[in-house]
Amino acid sequence: MEPTLVEKKDQDLAFKVDVFKGLRSIPKSISSKYFYDDEGSLIFQEITQMKEYYPTRLEMEVFEQRKYDIVRCMASSEVDVVELGAGDGHKTKVLLEQMNEQDIKVNFYPIDISEKALDELLKNVSSGEKLKVHPVVGEYMSGLAKVCEMSKKPKFVLFLGSNIGNFGPGERVSFLNSLQKNLNVGDMILIGFDLKKDVRKLVQAYDDPSGVTAKFNLNLLKRINRELGGHFDPDSFYHHAFYNPLKGAMESCLLSSKEQDVVVDEFGTSFHFEPYEAIHLEHSYKFTLNEIEDMAQKCGFRVNQHFQGTSGGYVNSLWEVRKGVTSLH
Ligand SMILES: C[S@@+](CC[C@H](N)C(=O)[O-])C[C@H]1O[C@@H](n2cnc3c(N)ncnc32)[C@H](O)[C@@H]1O
Repeated sequence: MEPTLVEKKDQDLAFKVDVFKGLRSIPKSISSKYFYDDEGSLIFQEITQMKEYYPTRLEMEVFEQRKYDIVRCMASSEVDVVELGAGDGHKTKVLLEQMNEQDIKVNFYPIDISEKALDELLKNVSSGEKLKVHPVVGEYMSGLAKVCEMSKKPKFVLFLGSNIGNFGPGERVSFLNSLQKNLNVGDMILIGFDLKKDVRKLVQAYDDPSGVTAKFNLNLLKRINRELGGHFDPDSFYHHAFYNPLKGAMESCLLSSKEQDVVVDEFGTSFHFEPYEAIHLEHSYKFTLNEIEDMAQKCGFRVNQHFQGTSGGYVNSLWEVRKGVTSLH
């Protein structure tokens, strides 16, 4: 099925503007959402298969062990399942199959900024008698607004893979507030949160010995070369990932291994790098159950249940839009 495209031209323009601003800012910084061009989406699939990348494995364990209970919480026999940043959908498939098993008719709207990710998803998930798949290429919120225009059925929103950890504290609250405003009382959202854990385990996952995470980060420079006529030499940058215990977040940067000026044709100018200067690329915040409950409460949701697997370390938290609440922020 052909995907619905939301604002493709706007996305190309946003990439251009954000790269320019990000390379001019101090410190230099580019949003991790730009990791996911076609190449980046395929490298991310490789990451999810690495033994060091525990979040995918732990979330899959939650679904395999708790799928019956998760699906039992769905209040309607026909529902719109809207997945924000769906990726290749291989974990979601477990829940969708369970919905089918428990006789729930599903209109599945996977939303992703990457069309390639949705192509991969369609290899894993296809329409059937009780499941209709409607892919949407776009940003989280514009994609959700489009789905809400297309259908008024009760919503069960999925936000998996600890994608929520990529937002800083303020962005996270405004994101959840917008989500709450777009949904109706009784709609539900299942969010995957990576919990705080041993720093050594975190660092292995975000800086693996075989260099797949490094390749993923360096691909952003290659994307700038491909789409904006950049002249980055990826071999003169290296990946650095570290845990910041004061923020409670893994962070990743690319560091310039020498002083250099890099021309980007699309901007008709160059960007100067001092030796070991960083481009900040990603935050992956880690959470505690108390922080999660506090966040839900502040943003107009009621925590219905936390689902964990036997290994622990990761939680899928099920929230419901509360009655008569406008969020507190
Ligand atoms: C870390 S991956 C997780 C994929 C999948 N949810 C999982 O759990 O394996 C993040 C996904 O979100 C998508 N994404 C990132 N930022 C986005 C945004 N602002 N709007 C829509 N999709 C986004 C990426 O293209 C990517 O497929």
